[in-house]
Formats: sequence, C-alpha cells, structure tokens
Amino acid sequence: MNKQELKNKIIEAKKATNTVILAHTYQEPDIIDIADITGDSFFLSKKAAEIKAKRVVMCGVRFMAESVKILSPETETILPVATATCPMAEQIAPERVRKFKEENPETEVVAYINTTAALKAECDVCVTSSSAIKIVKKLQADEILFIPDQHLGSFVQKSIPEKKFIFWDGFCPVHAQLTKEDVLMCKAEHPDAVFAVHPESPKEVVELADMVGATSEIISYAKAQKGKVIIGTERGVVDYLAINEENGDRFIQLAPEKLCCEDMKKITLEDVYKAIIGEGGEKVELDEDLRKKALKSINRMLELG
Ligand code: 13P
Ligand code: SF4
Repeated sequence: MNKQELKNKIIEAKKATNTVILAHTYQEPDIIDIADITGDSFFLSKKAAEIKAKRVVMCGVRFMAESVKILSPETETILPVATATCPMAEQIAPERVRKFKEENPETEVVAYINTTAALKAECDVCVTSSSAIKIVKKLQADEILFIPDQHLGSFVQKSIPEKKFIFWDGFCPVHAQLTKEDVLMCKAEHPDAVFAVHPESPKEVVELADMVGATSEIISYAKAQKGKVIIGTERGVVDYLAINEENGDRFIQLAPEKLCCEDMKKITLEDVYKAIIGEGGEKVELDEDLRKKALKSINRMLELG
C-alpha cells in the first residue's frame, strides 16, 4: 500500500469509528496531514476539553495523551506509540513536590504542562509556554516554585520581577542544547533574517532573539514577517511553515542537527491506523483520584489563561 492509500484508509477508519486525531505541530508532516486538530500544547489542551468523539488518537507525547484523558475521561484516548514520552515531563518526582509543599505552604507550585499526571496532581496550577506569564502574574503568592523547566521559568521571571521564583533542575533536552554560537553562526549566514525562539531555550540564546514565544506564537510571528526568519525551535515548526506558507524557503531552521525531538517523531501513519482500528498503541488509563487532582491544576490553567 502506498502512502496516499494508507492516508485514505485512515480517513475512512476515523469516520467509521468516530475517532478524532489530535497532533502537536512537532509531528511529521504526514501525521499533520491526516489530523483533525493540530496546534501547540495550549491549543490542544483547550480542544481536548471540548471533545465529543468516542475515541481520540493523540499524536504527540505521553503527557499530551494524559491531558486529553484528564479533561475528557469518557473518551477512549490512545497514544499510538507507548514509548513516545517527553523526557522533561519525568524529570521531577511527585514526592519531591509533596515534601516541598509541606515545608513551604505559602509557595504556589506552578507546573509546566510538560509533566506527568502524577506530578500535575501535586501542583497548584499548570501553565503552557504561551500562557505562563499571564497565569503566574495572576497568582496570589509572592513566592513561586516553577517546575520542571528552569529555562521557561527564568523567561517568565523576567516579566514578573515582583515575585520570587524557585527553580529546580529540569530542562527540555532538545532546546537546552542550543548555544549562543549556534545563533551567531546562523545570523552570520543570514544577516537580513530576524530570529524567533522558544522559551525552553537557554537564557543566553533567548537574549539574542527578536521574538520569544510558544509554537503558535512563533508561527504567527513568522507568517507576519516579509523576509527571512530564523526559527529556534523543533524542526516540525519549520516543516509546517514551509508547507503552509508561500515562499517557504524564507524560514531558516536554527541548528537542524539539534532541534529534532526524537520522541515527537516516533509516530508513523501505520501506528495511527493501528490505533484507530484498535490493533495498536496504548489506551491511556488514570486512577480516578489522581485524575481529579490533576484536573484541578489544568482547569485553573484554562480559567486563568
Ligand atoms: P508548546 O507547544 O507550548 O510550544 O511547547 C513546545 C513543546 O516542547 C511541546 O513539547
Ligand atoms: Fe519534551 Fe522538549 Fe520534546 Fe517538547 S521538544 S516533547 S519539551 S523533549
């Protein structure tokens, strides 16, 4: 079967089984092509809360499939490849947060959405990269523990100097590899380009940017520019822009050898098809008490964000 035939089978199977496919922008272009809803973490969370379908196939990483299950517990939620996980989501043990909260009851714990359901259940509120500043500004506490991403955390802190921030040792292993030299080299090759970067990147890289934002914000910014844009985030964003925008070659991938999230690239069309027909992938199940606790943090994010 060729690729187009497989895509047609997926489209037929979706209809026959009342399945909706959600895909993060970092997925391969073929997956984006057959998805019903695509976007960044915040957009997908908002959509997950509105889902009416019988089954969702989440093309992304495990925490995204868990978020769908937390928000739509009646929906059968399938992660097509069980090993597709975000390494950052698992960097902090929930027990560490529980102990911190016992010792620091006045401090609010803010969890990036890139966390396990078990970690969300221990936190006060979730944020995504596009909603973090807005949400943290609205919190009552003067002291914030921001986990797991110390880079996103310090970017948020810059806009909220009135609060004290505590960071631990979390980071995105993809964006954290970027260096100042990567940016300077790329800028030297494309001196007329502007530079947009994701806030999961290190501070010295963020400082060189003309624009800092989440996936959706980078896409809007890049579309609005007339000339070249250096894109400092996962290469799925450049693939997306190149396919969907005219003059696609004006989008320059920063450090292509570094900015590829292997976990985000694990899902293939075959995996999606098998997940839809019930012959593959992992059905996400959560303990009901844990789900309700994690839901509080996500709902607070959706209300404040
Ligand atoms: P956003 O979708 O919020 O930009 O996050 C990027 C990311 O790394 C997702 O895992
Ligand atoms: Fe996790 Fe980074 Fe991959 Fe996003 S890009 S899924 S934060 S490892």
